[in-house]
Amino acid sequence: MRTIWWQDGQVKMIDQRILPLQFAIESYDDYRAVASAITEMVIRGAPAIGAAGGYAMALAAQQSPATDRDSLLADLAAAKEVLDAARPTAVNLTWATQRLLDLAAHLVLPHVDDIRSALLVEAERLADQDVAINRRMGANGAAVVPHGANILHHCNTGSLATVDYGTALGVVRAAWEQGNPVHVWVDETRPRLQGARLTAWELMQAGIPMHLIADNAAGHLMRAGRVDVVLFGADRVAANGDAANKIGTYKLAVLAKENGIPCYCVAPTSTVDLNTLTGDDIPIEERSWEEVAVVDGVQIAPDGVPVYNPAFDVTPHRYLTGIVTEEGICYPPFDVSLRRAKEAAEARIRNE
Ligand code: MRU
Repeated sequence: MRTIWWQDGQVKMIDQRILPLQFAIESYDDYRAVASAITEMVIRGAPAIGAAGGYAMALAAQQSPATDRDSLLADLAAAKEVLDAARPTAVNLTWATQRLLDLAAHLVLPHVDDIRSALLVEAERLADQDVAINRRMGANGAAVVPHGANILHHCNTGSLATVDYGTALGVVRAAWEQGNPVHVWVDETRPRLQGARLTAWELMQAGIPMHLIADNAAGHLMRAGRVDVVLFGADRVAANGDAANKIGTYKLAVLAKENGIPCYCVAPTSTVDLNTLTGDDIPIEERSWEEVAVVDGVQIAPDGVPVYNPAFDVTPHRYLTGIVTEEGICYPPFDVSLRRAKEAAEARIRNE
């Protein structure tokens, strides 16, 4: 199942706001509308947002009236600014828009239409590579999942959070596909319930055994010896290995360490931002009042209650056993292992 694709001059994506009770596809032919879709979380999950950014840059090139290269580059730079502002924590977005802009800047093609075509080819390539990367991460990560493990998982990191297959959920899938009879504790993941709505849906479709749990049950299960490994994704990993992920991840990692449970972050190298030195430098998105005070259309708190809604938290690297990437599993010291993984991935992209 692809989350996002290009068809007939439009970007198509599964509307993740209404799953699992309704399934609908949204279509976009304007990069600004894609930026809004990212903000409103029609599409979400760091790698999926990156793919959306790539396709949106291809759309921006097609929308631009430019007849010369410099004007097209100026329009693309303006589009990149709009897109990058759509969600600030997931670095895959700026990584993707920069990749498309760099390509346009370096191409020596006689006609601007050739640049437009090349950008669409690159956006498709980026999306296809995401699937291949996830499968490699899955194979790498499956090695750390004990036979018959009870896995604790946070948020949604599956096909829906990527172009296909998933990051942490890709590791779960790979273990399952290798015949490992795993079982997943699915954190509901307040406030937007990505675990309850999306991860439960994906795992049930794949036939992978699971139980949905309230977020508050995780510590109880860990202390009771009913969790063998904790797996989650990331929206940005700093150069030192500190990882920003869905709010609630940090407390899981601390509880895992306290209970002697291995804890892995699973993230492609496109999520590793070597320009962000530590977790303290990662911008944390704050979202709306409604996400916390209203559940499924029903207001659950007093009118006018003050709400603070950070969408992500940072797990300091000392709580991570390892970071699973498509280039292998990075272990401490993360500043060295992540840099190596990033270089290996860049060399691979150049040679593909
Ligand atoms: O706010 P979301 O739903 O976009 O948050 C998603 C996550 O936190 C995921 O864990 C993260 O993007 C990595 S998953 C591929």
